[in-house]
Amino acid sequence: KMGYAIAEAARDRGANVTLVSTQTSLRTPYGVEFVRADTAEEMRKEVVARAPGADILVMAAAVADYRPAAEAEHKIKKSGGWLTLELRETADVLAEAAGDRLVKVGFAAESRDLVANAREKMRRKGVDLMVANNITDEGSGFGSDTNRVVIISRDGAEEELPLLLKSEVAHKVLDRAAQISKG
Ligand code: CTP
Repeated sequence: KMGYAIAEAARDRGANVTLVSTQTSLRTPYGVEFVRADTAEEMRKEVVARAPGADILVMAAAVADYRPAAEAEHKIKKSGGWLTLELRETADVLAEAAGDRLVKVGFAAESRDLVANAREKMRRKGVDLMVANNITDEGSGFGSDTNRVVIISRDGAEEELPLLLKSEVAHKVLDRAAQISKG
């Protein structure tokens, strides 16, 4: 919902918007190009390919951090009691995406030490702006139409916003992202 709200808000500001998303129950905003990506790897491929030509990348997707290490060719038969799946870390889309004039905006979903964890992620992924939200907050996070976030800039500034509609958060984030122009 947050990603779709960002896409719609950017469109309303006159941007050419590409929305890379898996299938959802949400409607793609009119005038926004939709690119389907059902796995972390597909999302990586689609985002990394477009990043060099983009001005702003906003990664609001809750990308799976792990994928099964091996894909079973056939149905896995029951073998009694327990099944252990081996998982491998997926590629980090936000860390990998790059472009000369690309402003990178990340979201940090945290359940504790919100700002400290978000700052650490910002450094690790080379992000220009981090939008941190506490997913345990009432009215914030997955499924909800509202979100309470702290917007963190590279220079250290922190803007703590009240509980807002995701569409309002989207415009606040784009206000800040547009200020970090890279030509
Ligand atoms: N992200 C990404 N690729 C991944 C995982 C996350 O691009 N494989 C992006 C998310 O879209 C978000 C940011 O990285 O913009 C932070 O995601 P989050 O899930 O908060 O952090 P992780 O890097 O997954 O770290 P952890 O789960 O350990 O908190």
